[in-house]
Amino acid sequence: MVQRLDTWLDQAAQQREAGSRVRRRRPLKPVDAVRVHDGDRVLVNFSGNDYLGLSGHPEVAAAAVNTLQSGTCGAGASALVTGYRPEHQALEARLAQFLERESVVLFSSGFLANLAVASSLTARRDTIVQDRLCHASLIDGARLSGARLLRYAHLDTAAAGRQLSRAGEGNALLVTDGIFSMDGDVAPLADLARACGQAGAWMVVDDAHGFGVTGPGGRGVVASAGLSQEEIPVLVGTLGKACGSAGAFVAGSRALVEHLVNEARSYIYTTAMPPAVAAAGLAGLERVIADDWRREKLRELTGLFREGAAAMGWRLLPSQTPIQPLLTETSEMALRLAEALRARGFLVVAIRPPTVPEGGARLRVTFSAAHETGHVEKLLEALEECRDNP
Ligand SMILES: Cc1ncc(COP(=O)(O)O)c(C=O)c1O
Repeated sequence: MVQRLDTWLDQAAQQREAGSRVRRRRPLKPVDAVRVHDGDRVLVNFSGNDYLGLSGHPEVAAAAVNTLQSGTCGAGASALVTGYRPEHQALEARLAQFLERESVVLFSSGFLANLAVASSLTARRDTIVQDRLCHASLIDGARLSGARLLRYAHLDTAAAGRQLSRAGEGNALLVTDGIFSMDGDVAPLADLARACGQAGAWMVVDDAHGFGVTGPGGRGVVASAGLSQEEIPVLVGTLGKACGSAGAFVAGSRALVEHLVNEARSYIYTTAMPPAVAAAGLAGLERVIADDWRREKLRELTGLFREGAAAMGWRLLPSQTPIQPLLTETSEMALRLAEALRARGFLVVAIRPPTVPEGGARLRVTFSAAHETGHVEKLLEALEECRDNP
């Protein structure tokens, strides 16, 4: 029977309420790189992805402002019409050089880049093999492509190999996050690349959380593992996290980039990234390249937190990256803890199903090079206070 829309929406809202799944946005105004105004309070943010603290860097802001003053705000059209600008070209060229890949194409977001990759490289007769914890955009890309989607247990290379061997007549694409966004652990890229080599599968790595943060000079997890363009033909990265701007890129061969530019619907049929955002991305990239100290500081803060939280008996995951989840028993507990930390001046967001699997509710604590040791020590004190009685 057809329902009225408002009846249907009410029922959906009741189900969210019953499952502790209601999510609300709060308008947060930045005070500086790590503090935000939340209403009349100032909170230290431990939930962002601004890993290197570049989103408020004066050079990043100046690049955007200068571009706005000398041009337009929006690109005004899609890249293939009249929206492609020198700022896009300059950022693509610098990324390609930095990552030692033949070519790069920019996308307006990581979500769109991931939709593009799966849907323009595979079709109905093909198979996509993915880690079970891959980002939502990679799952949706696979759905959009119409290819058969086979998933494997998180980080399990043997299981990935078994799924690859089930691929039928068509092509096979193995897709993984580099660093998993909610767990912070790193994919076993060298082993997966070997499995792909044996199976003749093409490998895609989405290094949204590794680019700028890890690897030699911040080149990410693929460079950490010493893997070439031949071994990882499709490398996705985002510019809205460590780089401090917004948007994303796909790096690979000239032929790959030509293919995406001509075939990817989420590239062709959308307005190009604002040129000021590309200019900010380039300025952020220069800081990523120059500022090794930011990565060093992140490692120190992460180590300090892990040691302190483990000593208090918090359930951590085996992550050595700036993404440090604290597992809670339930979604309700995650929400209560987030509220208790907020009352003590910290913004740490509760992550609940369906963003993570059932039973996987957590606080996703993340670090930025803009945090100070004192911020982390105070967070640990607050966690100690609310551990038994949030
Ligand atoms: C692994 C991963 N890939 C892609 C994205 C999407 O990137 P964007 O925010 O640029 O759309 C995210 C999250 O934002 C992510 O965590």
